[in-house]
Amino acid sequence: MKNFSIAQRPRRNRRTESIRQLVRETHISPANLVMPYFVIPGKSKKETVKSMPGITKLSIDLLCKDIKELHSMGVSGVALFPSISDGLKDSKASESKNQQGLLPQAIRAIKDAVPDIAVITDVAMDPYSSDGHDGFVKDGKILNDETLPILAEMAIVQAKAGADLVAPSDMMDGRVGYIRQELDEAGFSDVGILSYAAKYASAFYGPFRDALGSAPRFGDKKTYQMDSANINEAIREALLDEKEGADIVMVKPALAYLDVITKIKAKVHIPVAAYHVSGEYAMVKAASANSWVDETKVVKEMLVSIKRAGADIIFTYFAKQIASKLA
Ligand code: PBG
Repeated sequence: MKNFSIAQRPRRNRRTESIRQLVRETHISPANLVMPYFVIPGKSKKETVKSMPGITKLSIDLLCKDIKELHSMGVSGVALFPSISDGLKDSKASESKNQQGLLPQAIRAIKDAVPDIAVITDVAMDPYSSDGHDGFVKDGKILNDETLPILAEMAIVQAKAGADLVAPSDMMDGRVGYIRQELDEAGFSDVGILSYAAKYASAFYGPFRDALGSAPRFGDKKTYQMDSANINEAIREALLDEKEGADIVMVKPALAYLDVITKIKAKVHIPVAAYHVSGEYAMVKAASANSWVDETKVVKEMLVSIKRAGADIIFTYFAKQIASKLA
């Protein structure tokens, strides 16, 4: 070998685990994670979700137990999704207005059992809609402005029950401003809005729709959820939501949209969340069930990547599992 000198040796900072820890730029912590939960009616009930191994839909009593554990591991938030029976679904998502419905009951019970955990609730019509769409359907079309009052009423019901943040995931235009105003008028100016600002029409939501039986009954969601090819539009959506009063904006899915997270983070002055969705979860579980990947390592790497891209908060079905590993 010829004699030559290398002044810059980046490998020096990787030489030992302690040095690597000292220079580590990104950290994942349970404090920034949100665990999504599927809620079912009844008592002491749990149901597995076939396409999401390790995830069970829970009745409220079991849910509260699980969330107690989750909170003791340092996880700061939960996102709740109710599993509504087909008999209660209609075209106007009327069940979402029921203050004694499954979701408001769950919110109250959690706030009672684990008052300190942040409860985040989904605002969209699909779990309650006989059409399986996020907005109000007429003659095969999803109507924007007709959907807004339904969303606002749903948000108020959730706020009344004790939700800390309502999370519109519907992608209707103007809904953040509309919901903000209605919440304020109803006396809930302290309840925050976490908007799904850049939510893409994604095939990665499949297992979630299986879990809730909420797949659209006709067509797809492409007239409201975004085209995966677009990023300028995502920035526009995020800036609009910030202007309309969102407290946190979210990008969804996460891993295939890291560039969107980075760009939005650079443009807004509110925290950015990312939703590591059901399909992303299912793919890891399938590979790991075959021993094709080391599950914990792969998940940590994914979550670090989502943070490194710019997410302050990560919604992930791995929250509980990984929190126990991080502790
Ligand atoms: C419903 C909603 C969906 C998800 C969160 N809220 C599904 C959809 O838009 O069809 C997906 C979450 C996941 O896949 O984990 N508005």
